[in-house]
Amino acid sequence: MLALLALCWQVLVVEALGDAVFDPLAYVDPLIGASNGGNVFPGASLPYGMAKAVADTNSSSNQGGFTLDGAFVTGFSGMHDSGTGGSPSLGNFPLFPFTNCPEGDINRCVFPKKSRAAHGGFGNNTVTAKPGTFGITLNNGIRADMTATHHTSLFRFTFPTLGSDGQPAQPLILQDLTDLSDSRQDNGSVTVDPETGRITGSARFLPSFGGGNFVLHFCTDFKGADVLDSGIFVNSRGSTEVKNLTISRSINGYPLPGGAFVRFSSGAEPILVRTANSFISAEQACKHAETEIPDYDFERVSEAAIEKWREKMSIIKVSPAGVEGSLLTNFYSGIYRTMVNPQSYTGENPLWESSEPYFDSFYCIWDLFRSQIPFLIITDPAAVAEMVRSLIDTYRHTGWLPDCRMSLNKGYTQGGSNADNVLADAFIKGIKDGIDWEDGYAAVVKDAEVEPYDWCCEGRGGLDSWKALGYIPVQDFDYKGFGTMTRSISRTLEYAYNDFCISQIAHGLGRTADRDKYLASSSNWKNLFRPDQTSLWWNGTNTGFTGFFQPRYLNGTWAYQNPLNCSNLDTFSVCSLQNTGRETFESSIWEYNFSFVPHDQSTLLTLLGGPSLFTSRLDYLHNTNITYIGNEPSFLTVFQYHYSARPALSALRSHSYIPSYFSPTPSGLPGNDDSGAMGSFVAFSMMGLFPNPGQNVYLVTPPFFEQVNITSPVTGKVARVRNVNFDGGYKSVYIQSATLDGERYTKNWVDHSFFTEGKELVLVLGDGESDWGTGVGDLPPSLGEYVGFAGGNGTAVNDTSTITGWKRGLEEVVGRAWRGGYVGDVKV
Ligand SMILES: *[C@@H]1O[C@H](CO)[C@@H](O)[C@H](O)[C@H]1NC(C)=O
Ligand SMILES: *[C@@H]1O[C@H](CO)[C@@H](O)[C@H](O)[C@H]1NC(C)=O
Ligand SMILES: *[C@@H]1O[C@H](CO)[C@@H](O)[C@H](O)[C@H]1NC(C)=O
Ligand SMILES: *[C@@H]1O[C@H](CO)[C@@H](O)[C@H](O)[C@H]1NC(C)=O
Ligand SMILES: *[C@@H]1O[C@H](CO)[C@@H](O)[C@H](O)[C@H]1NC(C)=O
Ligand SMILES: *[C@@H]1O[C@H](CO)[C@@H](O)[C@H](O)[C@H]1NC(C)=O
Ligand SMILES: *[C@@H]1O[C@H](CO)[C@@H](O)[C@H](O)[C@H]1NC(C)=O
Ligand SMILES: *[C@@H]1O[C@H](CO)[C@@H](O)[C@H](O)[C@H]1NC(C)=O
Ligand SMILES: *[C@@H]1O[C@H](CO)[C@@H](O)[C@H](O)[C@H]1NC(C)=O
Ligand SMILES: *[C@@H]1O[C@H](CO)[C@@H](O)[C@H](O)[C@H]1NC(C)=O
Ligand SMILES: *[C@@H]1O[C@H](CO)[C@@H](O)[C@H](O)[C@H]1NC(C)=O
Ligand SMILES: *[C@@H]1O[C@H](CO)[C@@H](O)[C@H](O)[C@H]1NC(C)=O
Repeated sequence: MLALLALCWQVLVVEALGDAVFDPLAYVDPLIGASNGGNVFPGASLPYGMAKAVADTNSSSNQGGFTLDGAFVTGFSGMHDSGTGGSPSLGNFPLFPFTNCPEGDINRCVFPKKSRAAHGGFGNNTVTAKPGTFGITLNNGIRADMTATHHTSLFRFTFPTLGSDGQPAQPLILQDLTDLSDSRQDNGSVTVDPETGRITGSARFLPSFGGGNFVLHFCTDFKGADVLDSGIFVNSRGSTEVKNLTISRSINGYPLPGGAFVRFSSGAEPILVRTANSFISAEQACKHAETEIPDYDFERVSEAAIEKWREKMSIIKVSPAGVEGSLLTNFYSGIYRTMVNPQSYTGENPLWESSEPYFDSFYCIWDLFRSQIPFLIITDPAAVAEMVRSLIDTYRHTGWLPDCRMSLNKGYTQGGSNADNVLADAFIKGIKDGIDWEDGYAAVVKDAEVEPYDWCCEGRGGLDSWKALGYIPVQDFDYKGFGTMTRSISRTLEYAYNDFCISQIAHGLGRTADRDKYLASSSNWKNLFRPDQTSLWWNGTNTGFTGFFQPRYLNGTWAYQNPLNCSNLDTFSVCSLQNTGRETFESSIWEYNFSFVPHDQSTLLTLLGGPSLFTSRLDYLHNTNITYIGNEPSFLTVFQYHYSARPALSALRSHSYIPSYFSPTPSGLPGNDDSGAMGSFVAFSMMGLFPNPGQNVYLVTPPFFEQVNITSPVTGKVARVRNVNFDGGYKSVYIQSATLDGERYTKNWVDHSFFTEGKELVLVLGDGESDWGTGVGDLPPSLGEYVGFAGGNGTAVNDTSTITGWKRGLEEVVGRAWRGGYVGDVKV
């Protein structure tokens, strides 16, 4: 999804490295994206962890809980999503500490979230964030440190000696039946045990970008001081006489504040608060807490979390020599964020009985399929296998693959049925652990063939028109299924690519008739191409380019949308999921033109009149800011020069965006991280291997480091990219020649076996563009023919040796790698 602001920030230069053992964790800054709309969750979590502990603020951009934008802390909670748009997600059952209640009167402690925020001021420089831990000191002197296991958060509150009234500390810690977006429904309940201080409870909440609701339970225990007394509060008043509360949502859109509190006899020692959540029951939450953190040992738990992250992050090692520390921080922090969301809720799904894994917080697949899941396919294929099994199991039990899913509910679909792309990408890259690909195939075919009654949140709309006309018409007539009738262009393009992805799985499963059928409909994008369409700037000046996608009515007549509408430069159109939205989703016709025919760039080139024009149009897209790197449709456009035989320009373009649009600072992200989508864009770009998801293709550019080593978690083999003549000032970003495992290599792309077979790519760099990777046989796979290439530098001269047809595409995209190495037999 899209955030509104793009700001450039100065590069932060970090300390040069010594010769010490290289520790990737030293370069992870979880605070990147914690302000300026990045919406990143910067707190303590394990990889894919359900427990995510952080301080929550009252920022209007607190989707990830914490922000560094001058907003105040309103609580400390243990459930979050990261990088999302939509409403703020989760943030359930926040704790809030007071050193004492003035004069010992509990009613002089401040219970409601809105008013207690006044006690939540803090200095930015007190915030410490590292993978697995987070800490902050409030202006009132209370220090809060936190860490996490998979379902349990451990908070350590350290109190000043005296409270605000000058009396000795007698801390009160409250726990509130609320969440970040104030979505609590009727009948929230809480109980406090007067002996132990244990607080348990549950409440019903709403998901942040979808319909439905969910119930979440919790269990909280304390250690460190004797319980003085305890009770419950409603609104701004509490009582130590009452131990149980069931509370209504009440009036006026803001749920009535209510919860429980425990007061302690002393604040001399830190108070440890262990709180676990469960979607099943409070008992299960207590069980998680007791098994995961029996000892309340903060150091042990945080060390274990750090070690877990170190293990995950050590898959990729780069050479730090000659590179600014800020670039290392950018890189490793991006990688870190790819493993924060989605979250494993395995064992925590109350919706159906299953022995399959359950992942949640696919938020949203429209964002994730492009580079985040492809990144994890390299670095954590076992986790991707579980995610794919979970997607397929979700199909089995809800009838559909999700496009977006959070907090046990369906989220809104933004374009096509893009889980199809995720399944295809995993399939062709040989992810198979325990995956039932027959069911997986049935799931994607259902997306293509069966229209849901409500396609807000699954499947596709307009399938009758799609099948009869080969496009989604503007003002479609659809009496079978219902959804927001906008985005006819972007939905057409995405459905076409979804069908391509289905054809790839069909091919691998030996279903040739299906393969051919879906390959045919993958060309439906052509039906919305209007060759004589011009594009004028708002002031009437012609951009000089002709030929754009346009909306089309049921009767075949063209409708009109300005090709620049919904571009980065359009400040007047409504472009997201609103019912007044346009025919393209969160991007312009200009951009969809390039980024959303990922499978048939060769045909696009041909329609355009040749590679030179394609290149100059791609330059125009970037140079005039029609595209915006802060939203996901732009990702592939950075590297599409590879298809017009100018791979050097992809390298230049990626350096033009990193670090200027992605800097390792809290405000350094250009828009929502969207789980870790932006993080994965940075990581892939800097690694010099960018995926075209759904295809067995990585486009090669020089890594931002002298060397990159990637250990395959599947085979244990180490793939390596090495730059010869590397310079950290990035003058020499042009590949002059390359070898792959010692053999001369001229293709401008590699396939997934590069990683699994641990190949070595050596790139010889120079300071001028060369003809490396520019021969027609060097270009990436594409369905159509490449026409008009001379075999060097993309000059528009026809090459009689043009490799033809979709068969080549298929062989390259699927067949070859599918036959090789471990990418072999799938369970069918
Ligand atoms: C730090 O705090 C100030 C004011 O409290 C805020 O406006 C600023 O944006 C914060 N963040 C950073 C990263 O400096
Ligand atoms: C956050 O809380 C502070 C302190 O009470 C208050 O001044 C500020 O207006 C609040 N901000 C919002 C957006 O509610
Ligand atoms: C709340 O509880 C009451 C009493 O058990 C019940 O009648 C009511 O339907 C509940 N409300 C909701 C929204 O579940
Ligand atoms: C409070 O709730 C607990 C747990 O649900 C229950 O055992 C206890 O009887 C309740 N106490 C009162 C006074 O309702
Ligand atoms: C990559 O692996 C090679 C071969 O084992 C080794 O010599 C080199 O130091 C490694 N580079 C990094 C950055 O770890
Ligand atoms: C597109 O942009 C123009 C400005 O050129 C604006 O007037 C128009 O309302 C926008 N929407 C469409 C559908 O053209
Ligand atoms: C119209 O706008 C475009 C894009 O901003 C600009 O390049 C061009 O110079 C403008 N033309 C006139 C006549 O102002
Ligand atoms: C858009 O794509 C079509 C091919 O589908 C091409 O002919 C046309 O020139 C493209 N327009 C631009 C501005 O790139
Ligand atoms: C096709 O439908 C559109 C929209 O209803 C209408 O404006 C146009 O005149 C129709 N064209 C023909 C040829 O009927
Ligand atoms: C594009 O945007 C960047 C960053 O906002 C700005 O520096 C640059 O001048 C813009 N270019 C044009 C042609 O407007
Ligand atoms: C490739 O094209 C670029 C830009 O037109 C030019 O500067 C360069 O000399 C060309 N290189 C070769 C090897 O033709
Ligand atoms: C290149 O080939 C295309 C299609 O075969 C043809 O239309 C075009 O005229 C050729 N161009 C040149 C420069 O030979």
